[in-house]
Amino acid sequence: MKRALVTGGSGFLGSYLCERLLADDHEVLCVDNFYTGAKRNVDHLLDDKRFELMRHDICFPLYVEVDEIYNLACPASPIHYQHDPVQTTKTSVLGAINMLGLAKRVKARILQASTSEIYGDPLVHPQTESYWGNVNTVGVRACYDEGKRCAETLFYDYKRQHHLSIRVSRIFNTYGPRMHPNDGRVVSNFIVQALRSEDITLYGDGSQTRAFCYVDDLIEGIIRLMATGPEFTGPINIGNPHEIQVRELAERTIRLTGSRSRIVHRPLPEDDPLQRCPDIGLARSVLDWTPTVELDTGLEQTIGYFRQMLTGTIH
Ligand SMILES: NC(=O)c1ccc[n+]([C@@H]2O[C@H](COP(=O)([O-])OP(=O)(O)OC[C@H]3O[C@@H](n4cnc5c(N)ncnc54)[C@H](O)[C@@H]3O)[C@@H](O)[C@H]2O)c1
Repeated sequence: MKRALVTGGSGFLGSYLCERLLADDHEVLCVDNFYTGAKRNVDHLLDDKRFELMRHDICFPLYVEVDEIYNLACPASPIHYQHDPVQTTKTSVLGAINMLGLAKRVKARILQASTSEIYGDPLVHPQTESYWGNVNTVGVRACYDEGKRCAETLFYDYKRQHHLSIRVSRIFNTYGPRMHPNDGRVVSNFIVQALRSEDITLYGDGSQTRAFCYVDDLIEGIIRLMATGPEFTGPINIGNPHEIQVRELAERTIRLTGSRSRIVHRPLPEDDPLQRCPDIGLARSVLDWTPTVELDTGLEQTIGYFRQMLTGTIH
């Protein structure tokens, strides 16, 4: 039985990863400082003897015995990561150093949850892993983008210098149940506004595109990446290449919720990328992975979750 450490394990993606690892018969140590995560996301796992939840900030060293480390800890939405930008960079950079140090000590394989944001406002479309990105180093998103870029650098330097077994996934927009209701991300924003019959706020004219990956698909990709042979490290894009305009997402959300909300326009936020879409050729060939959940299906699941949350069935 492998022992896996999931940092950020009580967050949106981390909680699904913990579930999946338990289903695959791992022991799971979930480490989280609950900055954006919630105990309710892993409540249902607490009775499992193979699961352990530990409050800890990865900006500080951690001494545990594990075989695999999935480093997911980091606030992921602009509202949260811009709330305390210094802490965001610390989490990415000091957190990576601490987790890589742990991996070195206990000879664990370590996977980094990197992000499509390392491509910044991309000049190449769709984004391939060989594209180096277009990031504003002094903008309000830099704490996240540059923190994640530095973490990637650290992963590759620990591999070169200390021969660590590393994996780097570049995660694109992912959605599903357990997203935060108030984190400003477009899927959760639209659904919550539609369910409350509030105006749906569309930034700009809504022609900017995004590609949305359902959480189950994303977790499958991460699990396959961790299991690849020793020669493969990534970085590898994991996301859904089905690109849609944000305006269309708003319209679909209204249709699927049966809402009477109206769409209203607001100015585009600073440094908001206009296009974002993964090239997943590498994931298809190396991981034999491709997303399978249709957008409407995933949205229905997510709408069901938020409906329960707003009616008080989930707290
Ligand atoms: N969801 C996406 O679309 C997406 C896209 C790209 C990358 N990612 C990456 O995936 C990871 C998980 O994202 P998510 O959407 O689940 O976000 P999330 O905010 O739900 O989860 C992040 C978790 O990390 C915890 N955390 C934050 N700082 C910490 C610290 N210093 N020490 C310990 N725990 C800490 C939070 O409490 C939370 O539980 C993040 O690293 C994020 O950058 C997510």
